[in-house]
Amino acid sequence: MNWREFWNGEHSIYVSERHKLLHARIIERALVGLAREATSGNNKPYVLDHGCGEALHAEALAAASGKLWLCDSAPSIRAQLASRLGRLAHVEIVAPETIEIGVADDSLDLITVISVLQYLTEDELSAALSIWLRKLKPGGALVIGDVIPPDAGMVTDTRALLTFAWQGGFLMAAIAGLVRTALSDYRKLRETLGLSMHTAAQMDTRLHRAGFDRVQRRDNIGHNSARMTFIARKPA
Ligand SMILES: C[S@@+](CC[C@H](N)C(=O)[O-])C[C@H]1O[C@@H](n2cnc3c(N)ncnc32)[C@H](O)[C@@H]1O
Repeated sequence: MNWREFWNGEHSIYVSERHKLLHARIIERALVGLAREATSGNNKPYVLDHGCGEALHAEALAAASGKLWLCDSAPSIRAQLASRLGRLAHVEIVAPETIEIGVADDSLDLITVISVLQYLTEDELSAALSIWLRKLKPGGALVIGDVIPPDAGMVTDTRALLTFAWQGGFLMAAIAGLVRTALSDYRKLRETLGLSMHTAAQMDTRLHRAGFDRVQRRDNIGHNSARMTFIARKPA
């Protein structure tokens, strides 16, 4: 099994419905805020959410977007999204392979990539950065969130989940979820395939080398403050 197959199957990454809902609220607030910042005049932004997952935030993000592409590599997730959002004419659900032809060059105001980089190899990340740069309008923003630095491993993730669960009122579910995770495919894959990790300096270099400028680090999007979020712009 690889990460793409993992995300295409059944998993228990969210320890309870409340965990899933509170996570979605954080992502929704952040992404809708970014879309509003990217709005110019009366024109709502064209947005690509790459690696969107189940995207409980999608309806709110769609309302804040002139056009929204929801991209995920898992066919099962795309099928769910299609049945939930297919009625919205300005929302397209796409596979990563179809972005190249399905999205016009220089057309996007905003690309969000939250909690995805850890599943990409170096070559996949290079290829993705080059496509994202081409698809953004000059001055458009790429926001990459929940990037895992090399010093934030499983122990940091566990601590962050327990803190989030304590504050969010789902501590018992989190403890049970951690036990399930310890026995799950997620832990096995994390041990065998690993997750891609990046330092802040590596991200900065990487984004500049790919052709982005005005690279900035901001508070992480996601409950785990040990992870990192970067905003980079396509040169105007
Ligand atoms: C941890 S989830 C993040 C979902 C969402 N962005 C969020 O923050 O709630 C990772 C998602 O990335 C997707 N994914 C993994 N590799 C991908 C790739 N190469 N291209 C697009 N999506 C990918 C998975 O299928 C999964 O839905």
